[in-house]
Amino acid sequence: MNILIVGSGGREHVIAACAAKSPKADKIYCAPGNAGIAQIAECVPIQAMEFEKLAAFAKEHAIDFTIIGMDDPLAGGIVDVFEAEGLKVFGPRKNAAILEGSKAFSKDLMKKYHIPTAAYETFDSPKDALDYLETAKMPVVLKADGLALGKGVLICNTPAEAKEGVKTIMEDKKFGSAGNRMVIEEFMTGREVSVLSFVDGKTIKIMSSAQDHKRAKDGDEGLNTGGMGTFSPSPFYTDETDEFCKKYIYQATVDAMAAEGRPYKGVIFFGLMLTQDGPKVLEYNARFGDPEAQVVLPRMKNDMIEVMEACVEGRLDEIDLQFEDNAAVCVVLASGGYPLSYEKGYPIQGLENFEGKDDYFCFHAGTACRDGKIVTNGGRVLGVTAKGADLKQARRKAYEAAKWVQFENQYMRTDIGKAIDEA
Ligand code: AMP
Ligand code: GLY
Repeated sequence: MNILIVGSGGREHVIAACAAKSPKADKIYCAPGNAGIAQIAECVPIQAMEFEKLAAFAKEHAIDFTIIGMDDPLAGGIVDVFEAEGLKVFGPRKNAAILEGSKAFSKDLMKKYHIPTAAYETFDSPKDALDYLETAKMPVVLKADGLALGKGVLICNTPAEAKEGVKTIMEDKKFGSAGNRMVIEEFMTGREVSVLSFVDGKTIKIMSSAQDHKRAKDGDEGLNTGGMGTFSPSPFYTDETDEFCKKYIYQATVDAMAAEGRPYKGVIFFGLMLTQDGPKVLEYNARFGDPEAQVVLPRMKNDMIEVMEACVEGRLDEIDLQFEDNAAVCVVLASGGYPLSYEKGYPIQGLENFEGKDDYFCFHAGTACRDGKIVTNGGRVLGVTAKGADLKQARRKAYEAAKWVQFENQYMRTDIGKAIDEA
């Protein structure tokens, strides 16, 4: 089978690594990919938003199966373009990817189908939003409606901050057109858990849980990022929580999408908050989390391609999804300055230390190959990942491996997985 993966980050690197392990895989391509992916797949210089070019490439190269890793092309309708060309593709169509693409849509869906989430209101004008804030309870959470690289969320502690936030999102358009509409929601407290799932339109199968660390600095200080590290499973995701979510959240979401005439196929990522009143949905994503995928997929026992094909063909009920009874931790090595401005092009040393080690992975996020050398090419550069018998061992191994690679201006969080000590 010839496989095409669309995307260029650490998530796409682990997807490519799983595809490469599949007995079904012959040739693997990735568009546009990165320097790490290039070691297991042929990277193609087509950008993820160039749908027509990607579909033409897939036809020319007899691609049997395409996997869309990233959110932007999914929200933009890449799956519809591929399907119209008769190409087999894993991911939700545009009318289903809206589950991530519009916060107003997902909040309205949850309200209509009684799926637990924070109370909220939607606003199309700054004036209405400001009026609402006159009497809103603090803190409040402001969310730009559209995709904003995980950054369109502002937590405001005072009415003055919240008013400034409305200006930032709706008037200054800091997150672009994502801020044409806005959701204001109740602030919730609790632990966050990421739960990824495979969905075939009707059936949903849950993967092992994970936890991300979104802030740039230790102790959850600093700015929000795409994610600085993850661990899986989450010890806070108990059997009781799982049972609740299976009853009120997971299948309910899939059924709601089907009932709305938007059958969902692909991955649904449930961002959950475990509140005192039970688990609530913070957000949905229409794809694997990054770096959640880096700690979840390496622990999956199934052939990933077989599971994805079952999703596309509507026969996920035939799959017995299984995970190893162990743990994994991913520590992101980032460029100094990320998530704001940072420099690129620094050579990376020590990557060879990962060769031939089964439990250690160095997933590339922002890397490129220049004159035969691998150099930094993004904010998040590498996702150093280790598997261990339990979370503590996995964390020790991940931090040990983080020392094997070096590049100038490197930084990482030193407390990824520290929360497990409290479990
Ligand atoms: P989102 O992109 O919706 O996941 O939001 C990004 C982050 O903001 C989440 O991971 C939470 O840490 C935080 N957040 C979002 N919504 C809320 C909420 N209603 N209450 C508290 N924190 C929130
Ligand atoms: N790690 C969070 C995300 O992928 O959105």
